Amino acid sequence: MASDIRNIVILTGAGISAESGVATFRGPDGLWEGHRVEDVATPEAFVRDPALVHKFYDARRSALAAVEPNAAHRALARLDAEWPGELLLVTQNVDDLHERAGSKRLIHMHGELKSGWCLRCNQRSAWNGAMGQGAECPACGTTGLVRPDIVWFGEIPYRMDEIESALQACDLFVSIGTSGAVYPAAGFVQTAHYCGAQTLEMNLDPSLGSYLFDEARVGPAGKLVPAWVEEMLA
Ligand code: APR
Repeated sequence: MASDIRNIVILTGAGISAESGVATFRGPDGLWEGHRVEDVATPEAFVRDPALVHKFYDARRSALAAVEPNAAHRALARLDAEWPGELLLVTQNVDDLHERAGSKRLIHMHGELKSGWCLRCNQRSAWNGAMGQGAECPACGTTGLVRPDIVWFGEIPYRMDEIESALQACDLFVSIGTSGAVYPAAGFVQTAHYCGAQTLEMNLDPSLGSYLFDEARVGPAGKLVPAWVEEMLA
């Protein structure tokens, strides 16, 4: 596969962090179970009940301290460091496991738990502790107007222009650990395919869009991704 490939775009979803102990969204123990999406992950929810939304994201942010990147994150970081051509890693995940593993060419299209966005001054600031309603913006000092820097349902994912350009230019598109339930990420395979790229899915079970890929490998990311990276760098 590797010989005629120079330019790679990789999309990751919650499945790549599952073996690190981060809950996925739609599995049997999925994160949305016990929470209605409308109650915690929409701009309307934040206006209606900011305390509940902060509690949900504060718990997820503090849980990051107890998890580590796994073999799949590390393999993608190695590919990033050693791949001689173009490479872009686009993640839907809001954890920080790709960067902790060492990936540099990375876009967090759905935002980041460890970032706060002040609705008064519009600045993003690195955020490690709890946010809560009394949080003060480090940039302008306003309290109570910092929100989690997460792309909620109904909002537009970040850096879509760059992602679209990369998809149109890539020779290989790889999707790892995502159910294919949420657009626009679920449509990336079609953009890449129609622009001439080969497409590969790696997932624990076939995703909703598996049939759109040239090849679908089924199994845990912690096994499949290191093996694929070995193939690419061989
Ligand atoms: N290895 C590979 N794949 C796995 C593993 C694993 N160890 N464990 C689970 N999976 C797969 C599941 O089979 C499922 O297809 O990962 C996928 C996770 O799907 P979702 O929980 O729907 O997560 P994701 O696709 O990232 O969700 C997309 O939806 O709720 C929003 O904004 C949120 O970014 C999120 C988006």
